[in-house]
Amino acid sequence: MKNGLEDVIAAETQLSDVDGEAGRLIIRGVSLDHLVADSTYEAVAALLLDGLMERSFGEAQLRDWLAKARTGVFDHIKAADATLLALPPVDAMRALIARLPDGEDFDTALRLLAAPAVFLPAVLRMQRGEKPIAPDASLPQAADILRMLTGKVPTREQTAALDTYLVTISDHGLNASTFASRVIASTQAGLTSSVLAALSALKGPLHGGAPGPVLDMLDAIGTAENAGPWLGEALDRGERLMGFGHRIYRVRDPRADALKGALKPLIASGQVDSARSALAEAVEVAALAILKLRKPDRPLDVNVEFYTALLLETLGFPRRAFTGVFAIGRTVGWLAHAREQALDGRLIRPRSVYIGPLPAAA
Ligand code: ACO
Repeated sequence: MKNGLEDVIAAETQLSDVDGEAGRLIIRGVSLDHLVADSTYEAVAALLLDGLMERSFGEAQLRDWLAKARTGVFDHIKAADATLLALPPVDAMRALIARLPDGEDFDTALRLLAAPAVFLPAVLRMQRGEKPIAPDASLPQAADILRMLTGKVPTREQTAALDTYLVTISDHGLNASTFASRVIASTQAGLTSSVLAALSALKGPLHGGAPGPVLDMLDAIGTAENAGPWLGEALDRGERLMGFGHRIYRVRDPRADALKGALKPLIASGQVDSARSALAEAVEVAALAILKLRKPDRPLDVNVEFYTALLLETLGFPRRAFTGVFAIGRTVGWLAHAREQALDGRLIRPRSVYIGPLPAAA
């Protein structure tokens, strides 16, 4: 028995593979760097769902259906009353998704792909006292999310950056939220139930809740010169450096480089706060040096959350919403795994070892 089921194989999948030694992520036979270079979010979503739903479709068809589905779910935000809007964004989003019908069919899957993309911007606007903005069915998902958030048509670089983010985090092996999705799918509860369970797992700080603290760390460090001393003192206090280390990767997380790359056109066109990106760069360099020195036995490198933080901040998302944006991108992975598990048909029901007291002998 392993605490945390570390290294335990719990499923066979054709969806994605994480190679922690080589620093490689493969999604349905294509490596992440190729997907990032050549594919949109809709193309990767079609790739992940290929053969798992009752109909087949490609990128263009899915883009159209998804755009219509965004319009279809917009009405549900009427359920966002004051109690719901007092919740953290990811919890408000979960409460709204919980009101959607459940099922195993393609329409349910489409609704679930569209709903987080519509609900999160709407919740964020309503929490600021602004009116939600209806979806625009002529736009791809990434551009529409940014438009619904800010009320402005995003620049080409902003759309491309969010699209790359959604591609980069679309699936990642049997992480905690994906496992939760598969467990629920194995009971035949339905796709909405799977997504709700996965979202609940994602929001924990050990899983999808980490990028906000990366920005807290950058704020606390303040200047490039302060990076080395600040990080040294944090390690002296026994703290972990946010955005570094990973359970599986022993080298650089390939998703970190995909996101760093997505920031480049924004930096080149002056759409990133240059002081902020210079600080992040300095913190990365200082952290890698100090971790090598202080933790020589444990290879620790940048993980996906470090550049997620900078990217999402640049695109105008408040840090308390970062986990919700993660959910927008990861929902397709949850759905694909849920369908793969449902098609397998076997209930997931492991055993535990009882270590409690035995009844007294009669
Ligand atoms: N900073 C400093 N030291 C670290 C870090 C870090 N970020 N990560 C691991 N270590 C050290 C631990 O202190 C430990 O050292 P020790 O043996 O001297 O005590 C050693 O590395 C091994 O630590 P584990 O807890 O066994 O590593 P695990 O694989 O469980 O940790 C985790 C993975 C939770 C991501 C960890 O690296 C961490 O806490 N990172 C910071 C938070 C973070 O960035 N989370 C997002 C991860 S990406 C994602 O899940 C989407």
